[in-house]
Amino acid sequence: MIDIPNALIRELSFNFKAHFGKSPALLVFAPGRINLIGEHIDYNDGFVCPAAIDKYVGFALGPSFTEQSIVLAQDLGEEFHFDAQENFHASEPHWTNYIKGVLHQFSGTDIAPFQLLFQSSIPIGAGLSSSAALSCGFAYALNEWTKEGKTKEELALIGQRTEHDFAGVNCGLMDQFASVFGQKDSFILMDCRDLSLSFVHAELKDSTFLLIDSCVKHELAESAYNQRRAECEHALDIVKQSFPEVTSFRQCDMRHIEATREQMGEIPFRRASFVISEMERVHEAMSALENKDAKLLGGLLNQTHEGLSAQYDVSCVELDFLQQNAVNQEDVLGARMMGGGFGGCLLVLLKKDCQHSVIQTLTKAYLAKFGIEATAYPINISQGIQHLSWHEQV
Ligand code: GLA
Repeated sequence: MIDIPNALIRELSFNFKAHFGKSPALLVFAPGRINLIGEHIDYNDGFVCPAAIDKYVGFALGPSFTEQSIVLAQDLGEEFHFDAQENFHASEPHWTNYIKGVLHQFSGTDIAPFQLLFQSSIPIGAGLSSSAALSCGFAYALNEWTKEGKTKEELALIGQRTEHDFAGVNCGLMDQFASVFGQKDSFILMDCRDLSLSFVHAELKDSTFLLIDSCVKHELAESAYNQRRAECEHALDIVKQSFPEVTSFRQCDMRHIEATREQMGEIPFRRASFVISEMERVHEAMSALENKDAKLLGGLLNQTHEGLSAQYDVSCVELDFLQQNAVNQEDVLGARMMGGGFGGCLLVLLKKDCQHSVIQTLTKAYLAKFGIEATAYPINISQGIQHLSWHEQV
């Protein structure tokens, strides 16, 4: 049974029919994600703790009766026409790169011409992984359409390769795995070294989570992201020179980093120090979650924020302000910036039934300080990618 609101299913089908004049044969819903803890850890071989949320890129697909395929970005009113067998290359930054990147990885597959419409309820640039939902959702839809039989893991890897080769972001695999493998009401504990997954129930007695979107996205976020990754790789290479037994940050502790501090330089040292302490926090946070200890978990989220801001340098004044204001409130147990950084959302852990007052106070202070209206989203942890074939539609 698909767990998607009927209204969303109807809207997507309606939009497809309004545009292409017939009902779709397939609907696919690819969710965005949050990450409880383990930030910038996926590409460093640690454990991360994401979950899919009930915001989706929805795809509706049906056959095309010409040789050309069409992808329509409903929210932008833009169409992309192509021959699915052509050779695709990345162009200037544009949404079509995500489509091209996925098609490129289906090259060699016989793709019958299709018409596809997609629309998103995941806010763009909020750090909720709308781009992973776009590439993984499209890969999933193509896999259904071509009956290619790729596994979920292969689809997630296609999403990641698309980011690397067609969007220029050397991301890890957390976002794609969350979108593909998410389970309702559970956080995923993902081992980014061997890609194994386990699930932890997300219920915390009297506390709950909330997102506050700073509604800022600073320029150069992508290049700064790639730079962080390169700095970590450099730090690890230096450690390996002195400690050949070390193959990843998983085998490092502060001793290794301190001993090689001079050779690696101050910035890589700060990045590596963050990575090592964040890796430890993930395990503490898992125990806190299992024991439903919201106070302990909140403290860990605050520490992650401090590290991301002062050691990893991926926060910004707006997020630091929101975080500081959030933790100053009595009903808030902890808060941190979430995702790649340089803008996007603050993840807040707070007492249940206090959401309204916390949102009011935070958004008011933020508006007064920056003149920006922050947006609040309640969090509902949802299922990973789901689909409906024509005969199942409501
Ligand atoms: C982005 C990337 C992920 C991950 C996070 C930071 O969302 O796509 O792979 O690195 O940033 O945790």
